[in-house]
Amino acid sequence: MAELFDDYRTSYQDVVADSISFSGLKHDFFMQAKADLIERRLRSEGYLAPEMKRHALDIGCGIGTMHPYIRDLFSNVDGCDVSAESIERARRDNPNVGYRAYSGKQLPYPDESFDFAMTVCVVHHVPPPEWPCFFSEMRRILRPGALACVIEHNPLNPVTRLAVLRCPFDEDAVLLRSSTTRRLLAAAGFTSISHEFFCLLPSAGRVARRVERTMSNFPVGAQYACFARA
Ligand SMILES: C[S@@+](CC[C@H](N)C(=O)[O-])C[C@H]1O[C@@H](n2cnc3c(N)ncnc32)[C@H](O)[C@@H]1O
Repeated sequence: MAELFDDYRTSYQDVVADSISFSGLKHDFFMQAKADLIERRLRSEGYLAPEMKRHALDIGCGIGTMHPYIRDLFSNVDGCDVSAESIERARRDNPNVGYRAYSGKQLPYPDESFDFAMTVCVVHHVPPPEWPCFFSEMRRILRPGALACVIEHNPLNPVTRLAVLRCPFDEDAVLLRSSTTRRLLAAAGFTSISHEFFCLLPSAGRVARRVERTMSNFPVGAQYACFARA
């Protein structure tokens, strides 16, 4: 797996853009949608009060494409990935984020180090027998009561299926329904687990986002986010 994404360290964004080009949407659109969803949730949970110093971890951050979108929400942001070459590029592009490459087993951080952990389009690249360990590690590095966010492709959305089929690095992907992700989070000891589907409409406008939110319980959006408390 590490070697696979090492090979995409320079072309990652172009490959993603190519696999979604049939939709007429740019990669930026999806990154912004994820960042907006995370910010809205953190704000509603009172996580973004200015006096709070919040330390976030992005597990499987790749080349750090999400980091310009979320960096200013937190006091500190760290990212880790099994692809050392992706981490090298992320470090070069985002000097205000801390990065570490690791083996994919034990996260390279002490217990209870973070207030927020996210993992975006990563779990479908982790071999299924390793899913329980992946989620236990995510919980281990979070402070009690801290928030976790797992964003994944929605396998029930045909447009998502097509994009995955067109993406060369998704050849071995094992997509998870949101019910599977919620079950894995619960098995790892997370509580207050919720989910929402998003990226339903091809617009980032306020009306489109509002309509999307009214539909967020229905498994129609291209992606979903699960939030949970450690
Ligand atoms: C599709 S990319 C997503 C990258 C980034 N999260 C984003 O949204 O742009 C999947 C990433 O997961 C990483 N990955 C796969 N297995 C992993 C594991 N067990 N732990 C951490 N990262 C992993 C890959 O190296 C790759 O960078």
